[in-house]
Amino acid sequence: MALLNLHDYEAAARALLRREIYDFFAGGACDEITAGDNVRAYQRMPLRYRVLRGGGTADLGQTVLGETLQMPVVIAPTAFHRLAHPEGELATARAAARAGCLMITSSAATTAVEDVVAAARSTGADAPPIWFQLYLQPDRGVTAELVDRAEEAGCSGLVWTVDSPAFGRRERDLRNRFVDLPDGLLCANMVPRGAGGQRRPRDIEFDPGLSWDDLDWLRSATDLPIVLKGIVHPQDARMAVSRGADGIIVSNHGGRQLDTTAASIDLLPAVVAAVEGRIPVLVDGGIRRGTDVVKALAVGACAVGLGRPILWGLAVDGEEGVAAVLELLRDELALAMVLCGCSSVAEVTRDVLFFGPGVAP
Ligand SMILES: Cc1cc2nc3c(=O)[nH]c(=O)nc-3n(C[C@H](O)[C@H](O)[C@H](O)COP(=O)(O)O)c2cc1C
Repeated sequence: MALLNLHDYEAAARALLRREIYDFFAGGACDEITAGDNVRAYQRMPLRYRVLRGGGTADLGQTVLGETLQMPVVIAPTAFHRLAHPEGELATARAAARAGCLMITSSAATTAVEDVVAAARSTGADAPPIWFQLYLQPDRGVTAELVDRAEEAGCSGLVWTVDSPAFGRRERDLRNRFVDLPDGLLCANMVPRGAGGQRRPRDIEFDPGLSWDDLDWLRSATDLPIVLKGIVHPQDARMAVSRGADGIIVSNHGGRQLDTTAASIDLLPAVVAAVEGRIPVLVDGGIRRGTDVVKALAVGACAVGLGRPILWGLAVDGEEGVAAVLELLRDELALAMVLCGCSSVAEVTRDVLFFGPGVAP
């Protein structure tokens, strides 16, 4: 079967993966309303294009927190890439770097952050950076060690996932009794440093006691930019700005945490308005088409994150599969921009969104 789009990659991955692994990647919380709405909300958003603007082919380049990206797409942090393919995060990092995309590697990666950074760098001197995704651990010593590791490995940003004071209820995993990683795989970043013979990883803990004061603590623990992932309320966005966050990712965790949360693209406008351009705002959840990226940019995101489609590419053909997924999205985005009459990311504005007859933009 020819794999013509990201949906085809999901179908191909589904045919290849063991059921419980496909379900772990694809699933959301409870009734999976939000997981589905993230995708459907983009499909419901009509576009309205301009013509005869003479812009030529589209330049997809974008700068995010000082990082130069070849397209406004980053790899969202997802756990356990070696469940999809034996080369796991190494393959993802190489493919992302080849495409000029920034990758956010997860705390729950099955490959250590040092090795992920090295894999990206192995593709050439101009490889884009790796950011490290963090769940703040109740033991500050453990968190400080993770931050130090990420810094020493060469990561250029920290992404603190703030939407997880508890672990979402994933009923597919409960049904499949998918509770532990298979033998031979582990959360490589959670293996204590200097552990000698004792190589057991620590469990990742989800802490309901976290508060804005913990951002002050994290700020004191690192000079890296701190991006808060999982902000959906404009008041929290204002707090993030006033408490010194460097960026925001509007995200409902791909619908894996609080089910029936609104679709992330529907949550984006109020956050963008609250931030008033003071820090960059990214969005993830449900991006499956180049037109979805255009819509997110039009609403005010500087870039989008891609979660599951990366895992589908990885499952289908390792590094080449991830590269193919990114190339498809790049080609679709370039085409969508040209058809909208936009020759650069900066030209993608609210003007391309159609609000319906009689509805004010
Ligand atoms: C299998 C899987 C694992 C994930 N693991 C993490 C994680 O470790 N840390 C995190 O911040 N987000 C995690 N996420 C959420 C993603 O970063 C992202 O928010 C979401 O996948 C975006 O939606 P999409 O899959 O529709 O693109 C995970 C998502 C999936 C599907």
